[in-house]
Amino acid sequence: MTVAVSPARLPRHFFRTFQCRRCYSTRPPVSLLGQRYAADSSTNITSAIIDKVGRNLYMNPSHPLGILQSLISSHFHNFNSMVGLNPVVTPAQNFDDLGFPPDHPGRAATDSYYINKDLLLRTHTSAHEVETFARGERKWLLSADVYRRDEIDASHYPVFHQMEGARVFSADAVGRAELEDDNARLSHHLARSNIVIEDVPHITASNPHQDVHDPVLAELVALNLKLSLNSLMLTLFGDRAGVNEGEPLRVRWIEAYFPFTTPSYEVEVFFRGKWLEILGCGVVQQQTLDRARVPDSISWAFGLGLERIAMILFSIPDIRLFWSQDPRFISQFTAGQINTFKPYSRYPACYKDVSFWLPHTGLHDNDFCDLVRDTVGDLVQDVVLIDSFTHPKTNRSSKCYRINYCSMDRSLSNDEANSVHAQVITNLKDKFGVEIR
Ligand code: PHE
Repeated sequence: MTVAVSPARLPRHFFRTFQCRRCYSTRPPVSLLGQRYAADSSTNITSAIIDKVGRNLYMNPSHPLGILQSLISSHFHNFNSMVGLNPVVTPAQNFDDLGFPPDHPGRAATDSYYINKDLLLRTHTSAHEVETFARGERKWLLSADVYRRDEIDASHYPVFHQMEGARVFSADAVGRAELEDDNARLSHHLARSNIVIEDVPHITASNPHQDVHDPVLAELVALNLKLSLNSLMLTLFGDRAGVNEGEPLRVRWIEAYFPFTTPSYEVEVFFRGKWLEILGCGVVQQQTLDRARVPDSISWAFGLGLERIAMILFSIPDIRLFWSQDPRFISQFTAGQINTFKPYSRYPACYKDVSFWLPHTGLHDNDFCDLVRDTVGDLVQDVVLIDSFTHPKTNRSSKCYRINYCSMDRSLSNDEANSVHAQVITNLKDKFGVEIR
């Protein structure tokens, strides 16, 4: 049955994506922030993503992401806080300069959005480390939108926001004195606070310091990093109504690995019965500072995702809401205040399945998710792979995905869900040549 749907109610992307397979062979240039970029066979950025570039949610002082950004910036009040850097970076900035090996999965077209083979949307704020150190910044914060191809559910969105912070010390007696002073100050503050910290040794055989570093100085820098971030966790989560309710804040440190830091750690916070990963950090690899031509120095750095923290602090249940322009969402927040979001309504979920035989080239889950997102915009709440098998005789593979269509701000009729689902199927056939079962 074909159903007429009023065009005004369809998402903006509905009509202009994946019109035909031929369009992909001509590859029109990509326009981003007023610049035109030549496309090539690496281009995989979608119009749903292009529409998000330049929204700068974290710069709006009364948006939950902006409120959190300001709270973190004021915690690090003597750090220089940078915003508005162009999200278009080179693979060298995003990966090579930071020591990512050539076969690192993050580089794959299935994980990142490429504008062409020479440019991509940054996948993390660390992409700006070298240039920021090179400008001579010694205590800095950087906030930005970052882009990663991912699955679709209530806590994953292909655009999100990170803050990177770093502090540089001189690798001499002056730096050492500065570290000892600052560590004493921070330890004193933490000792008097309602916080329980599960720590790991700063430096171990599996999480070593760098050969170029004096081990004593490396320990002091790692300690300064830990104290600075424990203090940030107190500012964000300590004694906050709805988060800890008088209980001590529990923070856990875990050994981690990043190509651009060693030793490296992850920080988790205990919230509503679960440990939640909040950030990654470590002592900056000396090659980063060398590349930035910052001699005789040692630095720590951290990177955190704003959405995950904002979802906890403001009780925001669905990551899509950050992009909502519905006054019932926006009007609930005020600059400088952390308050609990009151859901205005829950609209019914509408599940639709699609089963198909894969093309011989296969089809990555992220390709499927991007196609759905690009076709229906934020009408998709989550996508789950419910079945996948290979036929023993024909060797053909099949997948079945269940798509949950649910608007954030209105009730979606079954007819409308059918109509957008039909468009997903058409685009799936056109773009990937799948055979619907
Ligand atoms: N860039 C890392 C990420 O996105 C986080 C990080 C930043 C880790 C700085 C160490 C130092 O996961």
